[in-house]
Amino acid sequence: MQISGKAAPCDMTPSDQTAATPTVDIHSHFFPEDWPDFGARFGGAPWPRIAHTGPGQAMILLGEKPFRPIQAPCWDVPTRLADMDTQGIDLQVISATPVLFAYDRPVDQALYVAQHFNDAALEMTARSEGRLAALCQVPLQDVDASCRELSRAMRAGHRGVQIGNHVGLTNLDDPGIITFLHHCADEGAAVLVHPWDMMARERMPKYMMAWTVGMPAETQLAIVALILSGGFDRLPRSLRLCFAHGGGSFAFLLGRLENAWHNRDVARGEIDRPPSHYLDRFSVDAAVFDPGALRLLVEVMGPERVMLGSDYPFPLGEQRIGGLVREAKFLSETARAGILGGNALAWLGAPATAAA
Ligand code: CO
Repeated sequence: MQISGKAAPCDMTPSDQTAATPTVDIHSHFFPEDWPDFGARFGGAPWPRIAHTGPGQAMILLGEKPFRPIQAPCWDVPTRLADMDTQGIDLQVISATPVLFAYDRPVDQALYVAQHFNDAALEMTARSEGRLAALCQVPLQDVDASCRELSRAMRAGHRGVQIGNHVGLTNLDDPGIITFLHHCADEGAAVLVHPWDMMARERMPKYMMAWTVGMPAETQLAIVALILSGGFDRLPRSLRLCFAHGGGSFAFLLGRLENAWHNRDVARGEIDRPPSHYLDRFSVDAAVFDPGALRLLVEVMGPERVMLGSDYPFPLGEQRIGGLVREAKFLSETARAGILGGNALAWLGAPATAAA
């Protein structure tokens, strides 16, 4: 896998044309054009499947129930590359969509599914002339199987892993998940934590509130659990961890967390220093859709810990990828270049020459 440093050929803004680093989108999703009938093979609760409904159009179903309409950029590499050219994106990191995780299945089934989608992701990157990179998925309900599949996927060409922010009632501070994150650091794998299986779904059945309210809360919960449990004290600093959607509600509510930590013993968790001490242990993407929110995020996390991430090609993703970062007047050009690509290259563990 090579990182392409070449500039996209058209529709580039002046800052892109002079930028020394490629523009990298670290948060985008794919679905293969087709996949095996897991329901027929394994049975059990309804499995995700894809039904093509017209040229470039498909529906993801859970059993017979529609889950999400999707379009050709999910599976068609030339369409995706054309969109990247239009939007001035040099390199895009693709990862599966959480509906494919299978964390609630028997581990042998989840491993089979993970291997299938991991291999499918590499088929897409192989057709991208170096402009797509992939994060694998693992059966996170089983630490040994997860470690083995991560190692297999990294050897095959993946750059890291995307994990859900929890497994059932287990948060990221679970000893098994901490062991897996250790293994990610040992393998040099970038880790993207994506919210999924949102809390209180029964109270948010409509209006996509599970996505607009539940997902940010899930991500905040994951970060807070990892901090207060002392999880970061048990993990190596070499671990390259990123949380999607700007870290959800975390940055905006860090003050509340700090206040609780200082004023209530029961809120102190297992750490001797306040939660803000751990801000240099993880990164977030910039998918916050609002200049004021981006400004707060950069102030809280530091410009070196924010990376362009679009959630492409979904409607809840950034429609003009990078527009928010490119147009943010409060960013220095150094900070902007880092957020648009330099930070991502470091997160991916790209060779230094890739940024030249
Ligand atoms: Co996403």
